[in-house]
Amino acid sequence: NELLTEVNQTQVNTKEALETYRLRFLSKKGVVSDLFSSLKEAAPEDRRALGQILNNLKNRIQERFEEFSADLEGNQSGDAGPSIDFTLPVVPDQMGSLHPLTIVRRRIIEIFERMGFNVADGPEIETDWYNFGALNFPDNHPAREMQDTFFIEKSQTHVSEDVLLRTHTSNVQVRLMEHKKPPIRSIMPGRVFRNEAISARAHCIFHQVEGLYVDTNVSFKDLKDTLFHFAKEMFSKDSQIRLRPSYFPFTEPSAEIDVSCFICKGAGCNVCKYSGWVEIAGSGMVDPNVLSNCGIDPEEYTGFAFGMGIERIAMLRYGIKDLRFFTENDVRFLGQFKGA
Ligand code: PHE
Repeated sequence: NELLTEVNQTQVNTKEALETYRLRFLSKKGVVSDLFSSLKEAAPEDRRALGQILNNLKNRIQERFEEFSADLEGNQSGDAGPSIDFTLPVVPDQMGSLHPLTIVRRRIIEIFERMGFNVADGPEIETDWYNFGALNFPDNHPAREMQDTFFIEKSQTHVSEDVLLRTHTSNVQVRLMEHKKPPIRSIMPGRVFRNEAISARAHCIFHQVEGLYVDTNVSFKDLKDTLFHFAKEMFSKDSQIRLRPSYFPFTEPSAEIDVSCFICKGAGCNVCKYSGWVEIAGSGMVDPNVLSNCGIDPEEYTGFAFGMGIERIAMLRYGIKDLRFFTENDVRFLGQFKGA
């Protein structure tokens, strides 16, 4: 009876405890086996009854052993076994947070979607034609040279053309125009690659969002209004924009878009280098050559395009001073964007 009480009261929470239990009760040198051996010393008329009691005890011990083993296994496979202590204090949830680039990308998409743009996607590994050729890059343009572009080894490709990691998401513009009749109003967020030494201000992998609007009568004023609205939504209600003449092979005319410095509001600070303006995007009217390269009649349609770096917008918005933070994934950095 004492042994039965002991068996019933024993709790087993670990493999070691289970082994101790097995050694004490079930093994050849255990207590039960001892009792069975001493059976022959008992008076012959008592043996039957004692044997019965011992058998019951042994069954109960075996039953408990199987219960314990099942509980232990259940806990290991993640099932809530009975050995979970529900009275322990709750461990605070280690909730992750969105990466700042994800937050900014989503915000950019949201702003443009409200203006009727949809999101388009395309390959990161491209042929020369989609990254450069169709976009009116002359054959000898320096951007095609090895120092800017990652080319895939010729022996690794199955085409005669150069294959490369896209240097901008403009390849998606070309693919869209090839496959879709205007109106086209899309933005294309994505990863881009340039062969640059990694520093606080440059990285070989970064992210862009480009936009394209092609339809009848799309004008430069549409471009300006669209980006003005974007700046107000992204930075501040009082944002102003300014356009500076620029050059891209695929747009004509081309303009660099600056936004009024929302940090110092013109008072002068390091971010705008005391100029009151920060550059946020390149833009322009789609060059007629690009339209015809993609099978769109430039006599019938016009379009504008723009492109911006997501990292750059995030750096401006959150005051991040070093590009490398975005890829190092230090939780002390990432944790600061909870609820942003
Ligand atoms: N593709 C350009 C770049 O990568 C950005 C851009 C897009 C400029 C569209 C003008 C129009 O820098």
